[in-house]
Amino acid sequence: MLANLIGDRARSIGLPAAKRAAGVVTRLLPIPQPTLLVGPGASERLGHAVAGFGHHHVLVVTDAMIAKLGLHQPLLGALAAGGTPFTVFNEVTPDAPIPVIEKGIEAFKAAAADAIVAFGGGSVMDAAKVIGLAAANGRHPRSLVGYFRALHGPPPIYAVPTTAGTGSEVTVAAVISDPVNERKLVIADTRIVPKMAALDPSLMVGLPKPVTAATGMDALTHAVEAYLGYWNTAYSDRMALSATAMIFENLPLAYNDGANLAAREKMALASTYAGLAFTRANVGNVHAIAHQLGARYHTPHGLANAIMLPHVLRFSLPAATGRLADLAVRAKVGHEGEPTQELAERFLEAVDRLAAAVGIPRALDALREEDIPALAEAACWEADTNYPVPRRMTQEDCEAMLRAVLPRGKKAPVADQPEAARPRKAARKKKSAPAAAAGKTPRRRAAKTAKAA
Ligand SMILES: NC(=O)c1ccc[n+]([C@@H]2O[C@H](COP(=O)([O-])OP(=O)(O)OC[C@H]3O[C@@H](n4cnc5c(N)ncnc54)[C@H](O)[C@@H]3O)[C@@H](O)[C@H]2O)c1
Ligand SMILES: [Fe+2]
Repeated sequence: MLANLIGDRARSIGLPAAKRAAGVVTRLLPIPQPTLLVGPGASERLGHAVAGFGHHHVLVVTDAMIAKLGLHQPLLGALAAGGTPFTVFNEVTPDAPIPVIEKGIEAFKAAAADAIVAFGGGSVMDAAKVIGLAAANGRHPRSLVGYFRALHGPPPIYAVPTTAGTGSEVTVAAVISDPVNERKLVIADTRIVPKMAALDPSLMVGLPKPVTAATGMDALTHAVEAYLGYWNTAYSDRMALSATAMIFENLPLAYNDGANLAAREKMALASTYAGLAFTRANVGNVHAIAHQLGARYHTPHGLANAIMLPHVLRFSLPAATGRLADLAVRAKVGHEGEPTQELAERFLEAVDRLAAAVGIPRALDALREEDIPALAEAACWEADTNYPVPRRMTQEDCEAMLRAVLPRGKKAPVADQPEAARPRKAARKKKSAPAAAAGKTPRRRAAKTAKAA
């Protein structure tokens, strides 16, 4: 997930060539991986480990909900038992808005901290990454947006994810939000990957059902987009396929019985595997659209992905049939050797079924018809400049996919809709679609408006 990876100069020599070149670079880039502690009680074990590293003062970054539930208490107990002083900053809010990060930087400085433990979902982990990077460089978060913008790496960051979705505990990215300009911004740097992460399923037992569902579908989207994109490697493929299999098997179990520790642990691992896959191979059109929905309507990230995923997969099918067929086998809805087209179709149906089984709505209530052109323009720009997608979407393609998730009553009659926007059954009848769209995207003014990734 490398924001603005393709610079303006590269854009002038042609996007496809620049993106392929960027793919070669990221393929060769050494990406550190954290030591993983896995299983019930892993967060406390991480506390003992961090205490043993001899930091002078640790800033524990979390949010008000986690603080209220006291999920971080065993970790704090372990730090105290090891004689490591700490300060808790519990003010992170969803999507890590810049003003909150500014407060976190102040807390880091006031405590004279030399390490950070991020204890929460993606919003907390990403806020912690940026607090550390900004504090180490004496820079404002906004000036760090993009790829490798900092001179110094952050102090050691340790992560305890409390949702199973973003994979931020292993990724080079931090997604923050700019509430003034309604944009999501990505800071990417291999040095913000945490040094150690605890995947502790006991922390996820009380995760509300909608959060379990949305974050689980975010992890699936990471795995699928990493697998379908052309920056994939043998390693990212293994991680993506394994994550896909685990999510299909365990997300409904974790959703229906939050206390199923085995399923929670598998989901935490799947989220990490998907993170390992996409931090190497990147994401795609689903994320490009979801980021705009998150920035404009504050739609939870995983929910926006979950709603868009079926439509983007339907759109991608002509260019990714074989890869979708592989995913069908790993999702256990088919067997190797069956006709590829059939398998690919079955994977799309399985994604639909999974989303329905975990209560994902088909429409996005907040979406407004009049916003669609600008949302699509920003999404196309983000995808064009960042993501190695199997099929490039034009402005028209993207608008059609967005119109397909307009809430009931705001949709045009089916006959007036372009093919890509029609309800899924109608779309399925079409035997094949034209090959990958040839560059017909209208010229964009979006450079000014869309810098999210
Ligand atoms: N850095 C990356 O690589 C990366 C990847 C994907 C997404 N993201 C970003 O991560 C953010 C979303 O993170 P998220 O989906 O984990 O949600 P989140 O961190 O915003 O948390 C969602 C809600 O769940 C609550 N919560 C978290 N853990 C809980 C628990 N164990 N029990 C009860 N409540 C709990 C939180 O308090 C919050 O209200 C978005 O900003 C997204 O863009 C980052
Ligand atoms: Fe995501």
